[in-house]
Amino acid sequence: MRIVLGVAGGIAAYKAAHIIRRLRELDHSVKVVPTAHALDFVGAPTFEALSGQSVTTDVFDEVESVNHVRIGQEAELVIIAPATANILAKITAGIADDLLTATVLTTTAEVVVAPAMHTEMWLNPATQSNIATLRSRGVHVLDPAVGRLTGPDSGPGRLPEPEDIIDFALSAKDGSTPGGLSGRRIVISAGGTREALDPVRFLGNRSSGKQGIALAKAAHAAGADVELVAANIDSGLLTGLPENIAITPVESTLELQAAMRTAQPNADALIMAAAVADYRPVEATDSKMKKTGDEGLTLRLTQNPDILRGLVDERVGTQLIVGFAAETGDRATSALDYATAKFDRKGVDLLVFNDVSDDRAFGHDDTAVQIIASVDGQTKVGEEFHGTKDHVSQKVIAALTDQFAHVESTT
Ligand code: C5P
Repeated sequence: MRIVLGVAGGIAAYKAAHIIRRLRELDHSVKVVPTAHALDFVGAPTFEALSGQSVTTDVFDEVESVNHVRIGQEAELVIIAPATANILAKITAGIADDLLTATVLTTTAEVVVAPAMHTEMWLNPATQSNIATLRSRGVHVLDPAVGRLTGPDSGPGRLPEPEDIIDFALSAKDGSTPGGLSGRRIVISAGGTREALDPVRFLGNRSSGKQGIALAKAAHAAGADVELVAANIDSGLLTGLPENIAITPVESTLELQAAMRTAQPNADALIMAAAVADYRPVEATDSKMKKTGDEGLTLRLTQNPDILRGLVDERVGTQLIVGFAAETGDRATSALDYATAKFDRKGVDLLVFNDVSDDRAFGHDDTAVQIIASVDGQTKVGEEFHGTKDHVSQKVIAALTDQFAHVESTT
């Protein structure tokens, strides 16, 4: 495919080099069109050597080839990564004062932008309004990742990893993203529940909510109408999610269950990515528990409902239900065998299994999963997907999209 890679002038411009290399490995032709400021970060020879094509920024370079219209007309896909606040503002306004903006204005190909900038710039109403306008015109916007920015600061605004940008862009081109889930309402639980012992103490778990957030972003990018039921997720992680993802904050398992049950009748799919406490204290005291004597403390716990099981029992029509299984293995049984048994027991349509032996998942950005599904009545374990939680989420959302197609073809 003939791909134009626009590179704007941000520190993340160096990541464009990895994008070019990977796209070339996938046998695509890559024409790099940087802005003049991008060349302050990465030199044209780097882009030329990696892409095997000449690199210019100005409409008055190579005038005989009428580059300012030809590049856009010939492109089959245009990706801008990183896209700065400035280039987003220019393409929203239809400005064409350099080769990249002229290319965007001429092309009829799908345009994908991967914004990267400081959190303040990203959250500025001007940028958010430009993003909303671009989305309404069909431009595919990959939400920035949350993480370390140029300096010691961190927040939403980081350029996603090259693999994630490529996955997103190629599926935008395929038409599977966005649109694969358009018109579908997807409800996703994320984070970890907390069970109060008293007004200040709780029993909780180490889930950060990053996996569920990544799923919400991937489902949203695929065109779904998304509700995120967020159990105790750090507000910094929620900032910068697309505005039309509805966030329902919950704390305890019973609150999470109530939110999922309320959402169930109108959902096309429910994804239980939250880490749910299996037990809660029999009672929580209204005032802070006092330390008494030296005899230790015995807590009495009662079992929480299995929310997933309840959702499966109350399934509405052909609604799809996805569970997660974070498993560890032991000498007798592998983690995967435990997960397969769970799939058979829980009655879900898809089970996303990850091996959490050696503390491999909680709070980290990278993960590895296998998706277990039932194909023609047989339990099938899919290949292992490794990578960032964004990357893995796109695979889960692709599996869900396939499952919708399968259900439609058989009903
Ligand atoms: O049985 P286990 O806790 O391993 O199952 C994990 C799956 O079940 C996850 O999708 C989790 O969100 C869900 N779950 C639940 N209610 C519970 C415990 C887990 O819905 N009480």
